[in-house]
Amino acid sequence: MADTTSPNRPHQADVEATDTILRLEDIRKTYTNGVAEEVLFGIDLEVNTGDFAVLIGKSGSGKTTLLNIIGLLDTPTSGRLFLDGRETSTLDEDERARLRREYIGFIFQSHLLLPDFNVLENVLMPCRIRGKAYEEAAHDRAVEMLQMVDLGEKIQAPVTKLSGGQQQRVATVRAFANAPTVVLADEPTGSLDSKTSQAVMRLMRDINQETGTAFLMVTHDPELTDYADRVIELRDGRVASDTT
Ligand SMILES: Nc1ncnc2c1ncn2[C@@H]1O[C@H](COP(=O)(O)OP(=O)(O)O)[C@@H](O)[C@H]1O
Ligand SMILES: [Mg+2]
Repeated sequence: MADTTSPNRPHQADVEATDTILRLEDIRKTYTNGVAEEVLFGIDLEVNTGDFAVLIGKSGSGKTTLLNIIGLLDTPTSGRLFLDGRETSTLDEDERARLRREYIGFIFQSHLLLPDFNVLENVLMPCRIRGKAYEEAAHDRAVEMLQMVDLGEKIQAPVTKLSGGQQQRVATVRAFANAPTVVLADEPTGSLDSKTSQAVMRLMRDINQETGTAFLMVTHDPELTDYADRVIELRDGRVASDTT
């Protein structure tokens, strides 16, 4: 079903204006498939418009679990998650999906592009899902961002003809197509060489500075923390440090 909100994103009357785009209060997660495993032990966190935050921590510390909860792909066992001032735990699946499309852009380690579509179509797909007006509204900006990452010549190319680094740049641009308020990235440069990683990081940083889009990015790479203005460390399902 097409989204009923306007592509010009009017301020919703029931939402208080705030710079805190995300707020987590005592978020806990226990996986209950098989043996119950407690993974998040009470996470409190605020992310503000304009933040460029990196989330680090050992494998198994709960980074992906936390990102999936924040991105409304998974639900916490308890605790409250506010997205743009709105508490999300009482929302049904349709409302969660609508909020996700409106506010959040995802970049995963594997880019998940659609092989039957060209570069521009892939970038605009999240907008197309919301409705034709969104796709049209996003078109020019999408072309501009593709030019920013040296893909201006590849707009009509099938994504299957691109290198891994080019595909990851397409996926990065796609995450911005809907003009999200927050971008969540789970090791977005994990499969890239260092030069391409730097290019993807610079694109994210440019967009962050230009638009105020908040970033929360999981990484293993200590070098990438140089791009961040905030480093959050998870240890055994708890925030061990949060430094600006
Ligand atoms: N879908 C799942 N079902 C059961 N256990 C899971 C699931 N996803 C992750 N886990 C467990 O939760 C813990 C944290 O995993 P994860 O959030 O992926 O950590 P990280 O991303 O920091 O490596 C791990 O012990 C993992 O085995
Ligand atoms: Mg992970």
